[in-house]
This record gives sequence, structure tokens and C-alpha cells, in this order.
Amino acid sequence: MPAVVVVGAQWGDEGKGKVVDLFTHYADAVVRYAGGANAGHTLVVEGVKIVLHLVPSGALHSDTKCVIGPGTVVDPAVLLEEIDALQGRGLLAGDQLLVSNRAQLVLPQHKLLDGLREEGAGDAAIGTTRRGIGPAYEDKIARRGVRAGDLKHPRRLRAKLEANLDSCGPIVAHFGGELPDLSEVTDSYLALGQRLSPFIGDTSAWLAGALRDDARILLEGAQGTLLDIDHGTYPYVTSSNAIAGGACTGAGIGPVHIGGVVGITKAYTTRVGAGPFPTELSGGLGEHIRKAGAEFGATTGRPRRCGWMDAVALRYAVHVNGCTELALTKLDVLTGLDELRVCVGYDIDGVETSTFPYDGLGSVIPIYETLPGWTKDISTARDLSDLPINARNYVERIAEIAGCPIGLVSLGPDRVQTVGLTDPFPAS
Ligand code: IMP
Repeated sequence: MPAVVVVGAQWGDEGKGKVVDLFTHYADAVVRYAGGANAGHTLVVEGVKIVLHLVPSGALHSDTKCVIGPGTVVDPAVLLEEIDALQGRGLLAGDQLLVSNRAQLVLPQHKLLDGLREEGAGDAAIGTTRRGIGPAYEDKIARRGVRAGDLKHPRRLRAKLEANLDSCGPIVAHFGGELPDLSEVTDSYLALGQRLSPFIGDTSAWLAGALRDDARILLEGAQGTLLDIDHGTYPYVTSSNAIAGGACTGAGIGPVHIGGVVGITKAYTTRVGAGPFPTELSGGLGEHIRKAGAEFGATTGRPRRCGWMDAVALRYAVHVNGCTELALTKLDVLTGLDELRVCVGYDIDGVETSTFPYDGLGSVIPIYETLPGWTKDISTARDLSDLPINARNYVERIAEIAGCPIGLVSLGPDRVQTVGLTDPFPAS
């Protein structure tokens, strides 16, 4: 069972990029299985910041294959920008990157529609990233999407782009928008296709071969469990299956190959965009965590909403993903707080529950347990035993409530600011 899934256990932005980068050391390939350029991960290469939205976080390891799977929606212009930025630094050489010919393309009309719908929704807006994700997945399910493989076939591409633009006409008109010009879209996608062609291929066949050869495959989730289209805080979710189960459909890999699921959670909670957030801290404490944790979106730059650890939501994430282990990130951000609160239950209309509700999360009252904080700088700790006892207790209590062991704990953005890192692949 040589595949391991790394999945966000909250509302995204849990620090999956750093964990995937660390785990890549043990992997032969990293596969991105869902979402699109709505995700964002900042890498620092020789002091230069590169923000990746689509290329898997394994890109820094030259001997690791980076695969963009069939379950993703790919904006070709964004992908090319990332390829250029990485290759400009001597990374992502040769055939390191493989993009599934089955991946759906994000088209200009998808981004247009995403924006028009959000503006038209007023107070009911989702707060999307406006990267065209929802409309691209809608077209996929409606069977009128254009796929990455089509970029290699100009005549097919032209016909599909025309049909797709036609289908968007009435809805764009409904919102008073202006449909992009067919020949402009076609010319630009033909040009993008020419440049991207060498990277596009059959990732399913490649993965099947890699699994036959016992290659170690890291399946990299995007967004997080609570943003999953089926299991998240619907309708305030993204449009793909972010959970670990999505790795099977999104990569094209049988469940039998998955030997572990590592859920990533921050030591507190954040959320961008609209939607319920029971443990949100709206006052000075929330602002303090936002500053200390540099909680601003890598894709949109939006300030993230911040709050206490919600262990009810985390336990739910452990269940729906089948987490075999958790990795806890950004523990250092909580240093200096006198006491820390952990949500251990919800009061719903006077009834206490520890079950994550399917709806009505906006009106639950969180029930907290309070734990003492610590003041010692933990960002230089190199072993779990270097942490102050209160920090260790905090980690242990979260694992206990979530019902899942915590292995890796991250204490800062740097690779060395990590304790408890072990090979995530189960011994075969
Ligand atoms: P969309 O994925 O752009 O359609 O946005 C839907 C919701 O998911 C919004 O609340 C976004 O803020 C949120 N979202 C999408 N991608 C991410 C991410 O990578 N991190 C955190 N939130 C995200």
C-alpha cells in the first residue's frame, strides 16, 4: 500500500504545503488530486518567494514526479506562470511535471461567471476566490467541459470552446455581463496549449505503472475537509471533493493502494470567505492570532478569520477522512497566550452534542475546555520533549479529543522548525 494522502482537516490553509514538502523526502511522486488555482502555497527558493497554486508542493525535489490529476481544474495561464517561475530557478526540469489529459480546464468565462455570481449574490455570497472553480466543475458535471488533453488537438479544442461559450451566453447575459470573444479565447488557448502540450499526458497510466513498481505516492489534497462539496459546511464550500476519499477519484487510484491518511490541522482555526465558524474570535485576540500567524490568503491576500481550535470539527474530519495520523502546525503562534481554549462540544438549542451538525453551524454555541498556555519560545525546539509541559499537554489533549494520534508538530515555516517527523509510508 504505497500511497499516503495528505489532507486538510479544517477549512484549508492548514500548512499542507510544508508537510507535503517534508514528506516528499520519502516519496517518488506527489499527486495533486482536487481543486485548482484557488489553492495557494508559498515557497521560498534561494530567498525568492514563489507562490504555487497548481504545481504540487513536491516541485522543490528534482527527483520527485509532480502529477496534476484528473480531479483538478487547471487554469493553463496560471500553470504556465508557475512552470516559468520554477524553471527560471532551475527547477521542474525535463519530464518532472505531468498534467492529466483528463483534468478540466478553467476558461475565461468560468472566471467571469464566478465574479458575476458573487457580485449578484449580495449578502449570500460564498466569498469564493473568483478563480472560476465552481463554474469549471459545473461544466465538468454537465459534460460540457474542455479538458487538458483537448489542448493537444486544435480542431477539437476550437469546437469545444465554441460550444462551451455558447452554453454560457444566456447566463452571462442574465447577469448583464459580456461574453468573452470566441476568437480571442480560441487563439489564446491554442497558444497556451502549444506551450503546455509537452506536460500533458495520461497520468492514470503513469500512476498504474508507478504503483506496479512499488513507487511511493503522496496524494496532496487542496483546501480542507470543511470545504468539501459533500462533507463540508455546504453551501459555503468549494466545488470539489477535498477529503481523502477524493484522492481515489481525483488521482485515479484504487482505495486498496492507500496505506495512510495524514490530516493536517493548525493548532487553532482559520477560515477565509463566508460561512459559519463557531470558535471565531472577532476581537483583539483574533487580530493577535492573525498577526502572529501571518494569516492572509496566499491566493487572494484576504485576511483570514481566526479562532480557537475546534476539536468537534477536527474529530469529524478524522472520521470522514479516516485519518491514521494528524500533523499539527503553527503551534508556535499560540506562544505567549495565558490560556488556550479548545471547543469540545456544541450547544444546539440547549442540547449538548459532540457531533458535527450537517447544517445550522452558525447558531451553535461552542463549549470550551480551558488549558494553560506557555511563554517560552518554542520555535527552536527540535524534539517534542523540548516543548514546555503546557504545550505538550495541549497537543496531547487535542489528539485525545480528536481520537487520532498527532505525529508531526510544526513550530515555524522553516523545514527545521518541525518535531516528530517520521516516514509517513507504512513499511511494506
Ligand atoms: P472557491 O473554491 O474559489 O469556489 O471558493 C469557495 C470557498 O472555498 C471560499 O470560502 C474560499 O475562500 C474557500 N477556499 C477555496 N480555496 C481555498 C484554499 O485553498 N484555502 C482556504 N479557503 C479556500
